Amino acid sequence: MKVGVPKEIKTHEYRVGLTPGAVREYVAAGHSVLIETNAGAGIGATDENYRKAGATIVGSAQEVFASSEMIVKVKEPQPSEWTQLRENQILFTYLHLAPDPEQAKGLLKSGCTAIAYETVTDGHGGLPLLAPMSEVAGRLAIEAAGAALRRHAGGRGLLIGGVPGVPAARIVVVGGGVVGTHAARMAAGLGAEVTILERSIPRLRELDELFEGRVRTRFSTIDAVEEEVFAADAVIGAVLVPGASAPKLVSRGMLSSMRKGSVIVDVAIDQGGCFETSRPTTHADPTYETNGVIHYCVANMPGAVPLTSSQALNNATLPFGLALAGKGFAAVLENPYLRAGLNVYRGRLTYKAVAESLGLPFSPIEQAAA
Ligand SMILES: NC(=O)c1ccc[n+]([C@@H]2O[C@H](COP(=O)([O-])OP(=O)(O)OC[C@H]3O[C@@H](n4cnc5c(N)ncnc54)[C@H](O)[C@@H]3O)[C@@H](O)[C@H]2O)c1
Repeated sequence: MKVGVPKEIKTHEYRVGLTPGAVREYVAAGHSVLIETNAGAGIGATDENYRKAGATIVGSAQEVFASSEMIVKVKEPQPSEWTQLRENQILFTYLHLAPDPEQAKGLLKSGCTAIAYETVTDGHGGLPLLAPMSEVAGRLAIEAAGAALRRHAGGRGLLIGGVPGVPAARIVVVGGGVVGTHAARMAAGLGAEVTILERSIPRLRELDELFEGRVRTRFSTIDAVEEEVFAADAVIGAVLVPGASAPKLVSRGMLSSMRKGSVIVDVAIDQGGCFETSRPTTHADPTYETNGVIHYCVANMPGAVPLTSSQALNNATLPFGLALAGKGFAAVLENPYLRAGLNVYRGRLTYKAVAESLGLPFSPIEQAAA
């Protein structure tokens, strides 16, 4: 199959759909890969790196779209991209269609087959193409907390790990899923005193086994959240209630009882945030202070480390991308996990929750493909 990768054009997006290492895998499997010139610039991958991996470099996105049977991207297509998609073309990328009627209209009109990274599933009930970005965000959350705890940044002037004879920082992680686990691992690795608050008892058991006593676990009640947050130097918000906005676990009123110069990193900000005082920030201006508490609420944290993020994303997308390149649409029909990723097929919405939230008709794949 002819696989194409345009340069990402969404503002501040530096990741790339295929790394040179992934290109080599596609080429080894007998596919040809077209890369738009400079597509890898954001991760330091040159056109020459891609040529060495076996890709053909083309001068424009138009050439990529015109000549490829499958387009592999990172971000949802922008208006100038969805107008170039066409029938019989597969689009494999993050879509986040539910809140985006304009994009949905564009994709439906194009007639393309669009598979969304965020709805592809695995055999354990997980979302394998979302998890790597949660891993990145979780680990990065502790780096962000460490930076914000410094005095010149407005923080308490505290080193996360302390030093011999001086206590380490107390870090409280609310939500022990993918983000929370990776934040806790990173914080414990730096020597912090870490507590994870979690609502799921089976998950608390898993965390207890995983960390073998290096991290405290605590059932998340209003009392427990209050007690832990008031004593914390940094709180990481990592809760998710699938299909809903993040619950506001820390109210504005609670802030006044937190330590002055303590830090909130609200990773769940992309779902509205779990602190009442959170509002989205950017990498250019990531923090602000409310009631003496420093807030870090960047909605696209993995964008800060596009090299790591692109590699982690490519590791996860590769088996699915190779299956699509090898078998085309038949791979979607054969593989239930890939089928869960199908959002749009030839002018129809094939993902129920997306259709419902857009108020548009839903066509089950069996019906759409008949
Ligand atoms: N800001 C970013 O750049 C970025 C990047 C990746 C993920 N995220 C977001 O981070 C959040 C967490 O993602 P994840 O992949 O870890 O999700 P996840 O489903 O793996 O984990 C969420 C956890 O929260 C727990 N939870 C739910 N309600 C709770 C409560 N009241 N108290 C304590 N725990 C509770 C759940 O039991 C679950 O274990 C999501 O909102 C996700 O969109 C943001």
